[in-house]
Amino acid sequence: MSDVSSYAEKIRSAASATELDAIELEIFSRKHGALTLAMKDLVALPPPEKVKKGQELNRWKQTLTEALVERRRELSSVSSGALASEDKLDVTLELPPRERGHLHLIPEFIRQVEEVFGRMGFEVADGPEVESEENNFNLLNMPENHPARDAQDTFWLKDHEQETEPAKRFVLRTHTSNVQIRYMKTHKPPLRIICPGRVYRKDSDATHSPMFHQFEGLMVGKDISLANLKAVLITAMRELMGRDVEFRFRTGFFPFVEPGLEMDMMWQGAESESREGKWLEMCGCGMVHPNVLRNCGIDPDEWQGFAFGFGVERPLMIKHQIPDLRSFYHGDLRFLRQF
Ligand code: DAH
Repeated sequence: MSDVSSYAEKIRSAASATELDAIELEIFSRKHGALTLAMKDLVALPPPEKVKKGQELNRWKQTLTEALVERRRELSSVSSGALASEDKLDVTLELPPRERGHLHLIPEFIRQVEEVFGRMGFEVADGPEVESEENNFNLLNMPENHPARDAQDTFWLKDHEQETEPAKRFVLRTHTSNVQIRYMKTHKPPLRIICPGRVYRKDSDATHSPMFHQFEGLMVGKDISLANLKAVLITAMRELMGRDVEFRFRTGFFPFVEPGLEMDMMWQGAESESREGKWLEMCGCGMVHPNVLRNCGIDPDEWQGFAFGFGVERPLMIKHQIPDLRSFYHGDLRFLRQF
């Protein structure tokens, strides 16, 4: 083995951890390491010399091992030191501006609705957009040939056209009222739900789209009354549309409520700017019809409650003076960026 001091020197001047690993192998490798080979050579020596040389080799081993440990420590502190200065984070650095998106008006409004009613204890419930005729009409007290069906120009699914049972014929739901039925069939009162979602009708012009959004509300309990309905609706609408908005209720007909009401909101701007005059129709509502409760297995002598159904696009159009409902769906950024 060559001089121990030359190895020690090599270790001290190693410039990187990889270089150090190579030197370590050169000395200590189990097959070809210089020290390993020198140890092997001991066997051939006569005993007194063997002892002397053996002790010398052990001292080398210790010296070189210590040198390796020391250099490894030095190198690692150098490298993390370098990293600290080269890679340090300048938190005051101004980043290039990044474009940030925001929610579309419709899902944003739906979230607000869920929040406002959520604070009044309403849970969010969901239902399918492809619905049976039974849940969309029959169980809501609208049997076949009921004239109220005509008002909801329905998309029927072709697949089950020849079926005669309403449970087996399907429509694109014409309103979110189907969720009332689904929820009451599977839950026991008292209950309080809000159901936002898409609905479909064969209709298309500036104020009608074949797909639009509604949210349905339902509250059933022991002695829920029209007074509760008014309080809940007015509280929620003030939150959603503005503190100073005024409302009026008038009678209206919907087969699934008795009595049935419509809620109007007072136009906020100059009367000449309103297309529809001073009072704008906002929603249908009323006390859930006993037949509907019965259809869902709820005893109307024990339970009663109210229901309501709102459009989503309509209040948004009024709030932001949007003249054409179709602008919601075009995805035109010039429109969307205004809100
Ligand atoms: N489903 C009705 C529609 O789309 C709206 C409605 C009216 C819902 C009265 C209700 C209600 O829950 O009580 O025209």
